[in-house]
Amino acid sequence: MARKEEELKAPETEPAEGWLDERLNWKRFRAKYLRKAFPVHLSFFWGEIALFSFVILILTGILLALTYEPSAQLVELDGNQVPAAYASVVQNDRTPLGLLVRQVHHWSAHLMIAAAILHLLRIFFTGLYKNPREINWLVGLALLVLSVFASFSGYLLPYDAFSVTATGIGYHIARAVPWIGSELANFVFAGKFPDAGMIPRFYAYHVILIPLLLMGLITLHLLILFKQKHSLTPSAHAIVGSRKILGVPLWPQQALLMAVLFTILLGSLFAVSGLFPVHPVAYYGPPEPATPVVKPDWYLLWLYGALKLIPTWFDVEMFGTTFNPENMGGVILPFLVLTLLVLLPFLDRARTPVHVMEPSGTHPVRTSVGVVAIALFLVLMLAAYNEELGISLEMLRVGAVLVPLLTGGLTYLSLRQSESQRDMTKVMDEQE
Ligand code: HEM
Repeated sequence: MARKEEELKAPETEPAEGWLDERLNWKRFRAKYLRKAFPVHLSFFWGEIALFSFVILILTGILLALTYEPSAQLVELDGNQVPAAYASVVQNDRTPLGLLVRQVHHWSAHLMIAAAILHLLRIFFTGLYKNPREINWLVGLALLVLSVFASFSGYLLPYDAFSVTATGIGYHIARAVPWIGSELANFVFAGKFPDAGMIPRFYAYHVILIPLLLMGLITLHLLILFKQKHSLTPSAHAIVGSRKILGVPLWPQQALLMAVLFTILLGSLFAVSGLFPVHPVAYYGPPEPATPVVKPDWYLLWLYGALKLIPTWFDVEMFGTTFNPENMGGVILPFLVLTLLVLLPFLDRARTPVHVMEPSGTHPVRTSVGVVAIALFLVLMLAAYNEELGISLEMLRVGAVLVPLLTGGLTYLSLRQSESQRDMTKVMDEQE
């Protein structure tokens, strides 16, 4: 016990901290938690950017909720009868700063998903999903999926022509889930699409259910991170040579770095939102029988592309259900990708705990698999815009096989070659 006390010995309390110390044992708290070392490496910022985007989403979301009306009841706007939800968003855009806040909210959602994907790629390419971080990898996957659902549930809320069409695509995908499709769609969409009862249901998902789940899972993610400590870059490990972390203490250095990052992020989001409008509700207008052409956001384009590439004649009856392009692209493919990601830490296992990032250059198989996946995703995203780009679907089908195989194969060969060169240099060094 005495040793433990000594280990936790903190720097002298500042006079200003005395008041807090008397009441909350601040000095001990500071020694135990605020001295935690944080590595200073740019790649660690992606997780933080995802976290800060979420904070900005909550703050701007609270402001938007002050004027939003979750109802499809018809009200008058500029002499026309339109749904109340649509009218409240148009009115919000007309109030000073209202449009800016909505734009920042929308751009933050894109940023959170982009940062989470880049964060996932860092973890993947450095092998940090392995023992002991398997649980945090799974929690992270749940966070990414929930972030996508948060965006999707938000799309319906303005209830303009775009939102209703985009939500309709989600409804049809839910219906295409084998065996339980219609029950699932009816449950999630509170009745048959596009029933007016959908708006309050989606509002509850968007402002209560999903944010609470995200908050809980982010807290769990960070608690696990605190318990297991950060990973180390190979160069940091070469300096400290143990399980110690080379970095700066949480208070005040890391806290200051985070404050700077948050400020830069917020400023950039305001600048981007001022310059580039996103989802102009009044431009789409209220829902009409004629639906606009809607493509999913960039992070779901690969599914839309896959849907186009699967031949329309594909229709197989099996196990009491039908498999067709709609459920292959919209349900089976994302399910397979997610299953592979869930299984990854158990397929590529490490017997002893991995705390040092494994450089992607020294792991040819994993790096090539990652390159194959990225190449395939990019080709599928191109397929989503094949008409606009003037590329035929036949060519893209060939590309979806050849491009990943070629890029993955070349990556593997070049990494193996540099590996054997490294081995030769090592042998020569040993001989000298
Ligand atoms: C929206 C979501 C997410 C947020 C807010 C978030 C937040 C964070 C933060 C702040 C860190 C510490 C800094 C860092 O290592 O980058 C971290 C670490 C980690 N995250 Fe996430 N994350 C999210 C999604 C994900 C995803 C999608 C995965 C993987 C599937 C993941 C897996 C991990 C792992 C394994 C660590 C520990 C890395 C280490 O020890 O260096 N996270 N996360």
